[in-house]
Amino acid sequence: MSFSTNTLYYGDCLDWMEQWDDQSVDLIYLDPPFNSKSQYNILFGNRSGGVDAQYRAFNDTWAWDEGAADRLARIENAVAHPAHKAISGFHTMLGKCGMLGYLTYMAERLVHMRRLLKPTGSIYLHCDPTASHYLKAVMDAIFGQNNFRNEVVWTYGLGGSSKRLYSKKHDIILFYSRGDEYYFNKPWVPATSIRMQGQKKGALDVWNIPSLNNMAKERLGYPTQKPLALLNRIIEASSKPGDITLDPFCGCGTAIESAHNLGRKFVGIDISAFAIELIRGKRLDLGIPAKGIPADLHSARLLARDSPFNFESWAVTRLPGFIPNTKQVGDGGVDGKGKIAVKPDNFQSRLALAQAKGGKFNLSSLRDFLHVTKRDNAAFGCYISLNDVRSEAAAREVAEFGRFQIGATEYSRMNLWSIENYFDNRYPPMPPMLDPYNGKKIRDKLAIHRYGRKQ
Ligand SMILES: C[S@@+](CC[C@H](N)C(=O)[O-])C[C@H]1O[C@@H](n2cnc3c(N)ncnc32)[C@H](O)[C@@H]1O
Repeated sequence: MSFSTNTLYYGDCLDWMEQWDDQSVDLIYLDPPFNSKSQYNILFGNRSGGVDAQYRAFNDTWAWDEGAADRLARIENAVAHPAHKAISGFHTMLGKCGMLGYLTYMAERLVHMRRLLKPTGSIYLHCDPTASHYLKAVMDAIFGQNNFRNEVVWTYGLGGSSKRLYSKKHDIILFYSRGDEYYFNKPWVPATSIRMQGQKKGALDVWNIPSLNNMAKERLGYPTQKPLALLNRIIEASSKPGDITLDPFCGCGTAIESAHNLGRKFVGIDISAFAIELIRGKRLDLGIPAKGIPADLHSARLLARDSPFNFESWAVTRLPGFIPNTKQVGDGGVDGKGKIAVKPDNFQSRLALAQAKGGKFNLSSLRDFLHVTKRDNAAFGCYISLNDVRSEAAAREVAEFGRFQIGATEYSRMNLWSIENYFDNRYPPMPPMLDPYNGKKIRDKLAIHRYGRKQ
């Protein structure tokens, strides 16, 4: 099956790539979770600048678990797997640990990336020194040592300092080609910037490109967002206008925008519906089609059945100002959070919670959510079901939960809402919400959720 170009795909990149035809892509850039044991937080902007409401966009800490054991077994049993020896070697060296789990995860996906590349194609693997040395060995195994082209050091200027070690201010980008004949248009870098780096002319594998600061215009607030200048350099060097570029971990779409701006075709995949919607809504408001994101009640039902967690995070982001909770269990069943703008000062913003249920409605789950909403002192709660809830008992409990006031307007403290309503364009009465990325009041309430809809 071939993919559609200029399209975004929602889901695990392995699931999508497995279905796609060999030798169909000119350039792959990937910036996967790093195993850097950090948790990327979206700082919920409010005037206090406090970190009371940090939400994890995704968790890049790897643990040895059942999934890792399965992947290891698959690769160790497949003697023809190109990373068979490398992974077995790492197994001996590292034992069963998070790093080995990560390397098996990457190996399974990198094999498909090689298969998808055209004979003249190239791949850039963006990582950091935590795992770059292991990943290079895995890349050598899969792409061939002789196809290794450069280890690019991206120095970004920001970074913590410590008395006990040198400042960490760079990432590693491993550049491999699929074969000997690959397209390469060596980037032109101003001599001044080369001098600044104290390099000799031509030695350009250290790239001094500032990372995005808080004031940067292109900043969307997505954790790990990369600067466009970095992606422009890669895409210009290793593809021609009209070529197909793939980013299997596209995040908020830096590579997608760069490819679009430079006249390349793009294909992006991300496991976070939120990231995909951010690209379509905020970064490139061009009506880019997204596959895997429910476009009608039927596909929403399938998502709820096949991937309940993804359904929940997609469903809660149908509400303006809400972002998904990344904890799959615990947290009292809260699936999404947001902040209500309270006049005159957003500093007093109040909590809003959402819960999404893909299965049949049951009163006890609503009661649990009422309890959590009260416990967390949230001003607003929204219980989202697939189909309308037609239970009188539920309606009664919601009515008894009371109301709250913002300015002159009163709102229900608890709301029953459904994905069926969403596809009918009906929304609960929403209080004014803050944009989770910039802390500003959302003006166009429907702007956030209209993107997941049928065009
Ligand atoms: C380091 S971020 C990419 C940031 C991106 N380069 C940008 O500039 O916004 C890694 C992304 O990989 C996504 N991700 C994690 N596992 C994935 C998987 N199995 N398939 C597709 N995307 C995945 C995460 O949701 C996250 O957005």
